[in-house]
Amino acid sequence: MDKALSGFRILDMTHVQAGPTASQLLAWLGADVIKLEPPTGDVTRGQLRDIPDADSLYFTMLNCNKRSITVNLKNAMGKEVLTDLIKKCDVLMENFGPGVLDRLGFSWEKVQQINPRIVMASIKGFGSTGPYADFKAYENVAQAMGGSMSTTGFPDGPPLVTGAQIGDSGTGLHLAIGILAALHHRNRTGRGQYVEVAMMDGVMNLCRVKFRDHQRLQRGPLPEYSVPTQGLAATPRAGNDSGGGQLGNAIKCKPGGPNDYLYVVVQEAVWEALAHRVGGEALAKDPRFATIGERRKNQAEMWRILNDFASQYTKWELMKIFNELDVPCGPVMSTEDLMNDEHVRLREMIVELDHPQRGKWYNVGMPIKLSNSPVEIKRSPLLGEHTDEILTEVLGYSQDHINSLREAGAFSKQPAKVPEYHEPRVD
Ligand SMILES: CC(C)(COP(=O)(O)OP(=O)(O)OC[C@H]1O[C@@H](n2cnc3c(N)ncnc32)[C@H](O)[C@@H]1OP(=O)(O)O)[C@@H](O)C(=O)NCCC(=O)NCCS
Repeated sequence: MDKALSGFRILDMTHVQAGPTASQLLAWLGADVIKLEPPTGDVTRGQLRDIPDADSLYFTMLNCNKRSITVNLKNAMGKEVLTDLIKKCDVLMENFGPGVLDRLGFSWEKVQQINPRIVMASIKGFGSTGPYADFKAYENVAQAMGGSMSTTGFPDGPPLVTGAQIGDSGTGLHLAIGILAALHHRNRTGRGQYVEVAMMDGVMNLCRVKFRDHQRLQRGPLPEYSVPTQGLAATPRAGNDSGGGQLGNAIKCKPGGPNDYLYVVVQEAVWEALAHRVGGEALAKDPRFATIGERRKNQAEMWRILNDFASQYTKWELMKIFNELDVPCGPVMSTEDLMNDEHVRLREMIVELDHPQRGKWYNVGMPIKLSNSPVEIKRSPLLGEHTDEILTEVLGYSQDHINSLREAGAFSKQPAKVPEYHEPRVD
């Protein structure tokens, strides 16, 4: 079936997480994504392995629906192969450390000369300008520097990283948007352009409302926060406070396990019904909670009452009770809950796949659903699985030419790097 991005060919030189998440999404949208790897492969193939000698889940979960070619870019013939691929692709994606592509001889200026129609898309920790431009970055570095860590956690505890990979996968999403915009522009003007997303910038974008609160602090305290904010110079950590116009928090349910919580938003429109169900007429008419302003002032007491009520029910029972009242709420779902959830399975957000080295495994599905471009998720490629196919089909190389390139070390010359494998821990 024709897919939304059918006909676009992407040269994916990304590695680890930030870039591969973006190129996987574009592959799921129908682009032909050619993953160009060093002869040792994307380093994640060997990281956090659960099965010896099999591509790790770290790799397989981020590289589905791609074809893999290995090219040694430190070899002169390998550089020729890259030059030819640039001529045949619509997009080149990369997230190497600062200056890596320039050192290999493929700066944006050079890439543009080779193919003026190409869109080149880069992720860097901090972008190509400014005092931090030369620094490398990983997920948590970006969370630390983009405002996420300082605003996550409880006010009296240390800064925390979030479980959602906003530095890597979040930046990947930004890059995918930039690529699609640049392709749209290229189709109108005939010229490609350079798209750059810095991880720090991407995290700041996702922390936008924290900068709203930073500026509000200059005019006075923030009444929706459950901690005092009078006189603070920077947005504090908000625990589980909602961070929006409505009050919200996680309330503790039966039997009191680590994830036995229900997140509840005490939306203005539902207070009366909620109060009736929790504390009858007395609570519904209690002047301490009559308006949102009063509830903000007395929120510690309001949360105590809601927590007392919650202690009689499991998070699932409470979700049912509150949803019947139209109260926005959600149980804190563990990865185990999610892997087994009927709704999740029905929406194909957990999909079962097969892999020649590892057998059956699961991937998180495609969150973007297009009615005329359904996604068919296919396993990740083995290292170099499509090298010959790409050289012949995309570049039109003859077998003799491929053989001579191979002899010259264009696809091999393994640098000495042993993939890491840890025995699973037996507790
Ligand atoms: C993630 C990161 C910290 C990893 O650092 P790293 O492992 O030192 O990797 P780098 O990207 O800096 O360097 C890759 C090296 O492999 C080499 N290489 C990459 N592809 C190659 C190929 N096909 N053939 C030969 N060599 C290759 C590069 O030339 C470079 O060598 P050099 O240092 O001699 O120039 C770094 O890539 C980075 O900061 N990226 C940008 C931010 C980012 O995306 N971070 C999130 C990752 S989830």
